[in-house]
Amino acid sequence: MKKLVIANWKMNPQTLLEAKRLFHSIEVRLHKFNHIQVLIAPPIVFLPVFAHSQHYSRLCSQNISFVEAGALTGEVSASQIKQFKVEYAILGHSERRMYLGETDDMVVKKLDLCFQHKIHPILCLGGDRLASKTNIKNIILKQFKNRTKRVSSNNLAKIIFAYEPTYAISTSKNVKPETGEFASQMIKYIRLLVAKKIGKDKALGVKVLYGGSVNKNNVYDYASFQDIDGALVGGASLNSDNFYDVIKEFNHQASKQSI
Ligand code: PGA
Repeated sequence: MKKLVIANWKMNPQTLLEAKRLFHSIEVRLHKFNHIQVLIAPPIVFLPVFAHSQHYSRLCSQNISFVEAGALTGEVSASQIKQFKVEYAILGHSERRMYLGETDDMVVKKLDLCFQHKIHPILCLGGDRLASKTNIKNIILKQFKNRTKRVSSNNLAKIIFAYEPTYAISTSKNVKPETGEFASQMIKYIRLLVAKKIGKDKALGVKVLYGGSVNKNNVYDYASFQDIDGALVGGASLNSDNFYDVIKEFNHQASKQSI
């Protein structure tokens, strides 16, 4: 199975020119890799610009609205982004929960809309202001239950999960990086929760990524664990050399693991 690495640019860069430069400097080097799929998640305003530029990467939205259409100032709907060759969307990121008041019920509605519009959802778990190493399993369980409660088994198998403990995100106040070992245990746990709903065999086909301060210096620690199907990369994806090293390592480990 190919690994998946996502560049989550968040609200960066500030100009279209910089965004184009960054996009092309990533895209131009991707042809070398056969064991990996790269997604680029720029700010929504740049999505139309890249709609026809990707040859090797795929476009991902950082969010969609929880409603289909209507009087929602500032929101962008699934059908609107779908017009720009967007194939994936990140849902339930902790920054949206902490700073914008996103609730689990909104995430449930966003998941529904992704399935309706055939957008692959990347569902974050573990993002909570109060997350710590001791309660992270409970947070994962609670969010998993609350967010997937309306999802059919068929659709559950289509979700890409991202284990994203808030305390490990590079911009968190007291950032505590996660070890590959611990991340891999939590990823096994998420796969177990999925398996309880859709069976072990199908759950093995579901991708579970890790996100939180992944960069060129620590990527080996994550990529070397076979359970970790890839990474959601924030800060390091804003530097194409740093991001390139992350991709290269995941590709390398995936090529070894597929033997
Ligand atoms: P980070 O961000 O790699 O900068 O920690 C990850 C994320 O929030 O998706």
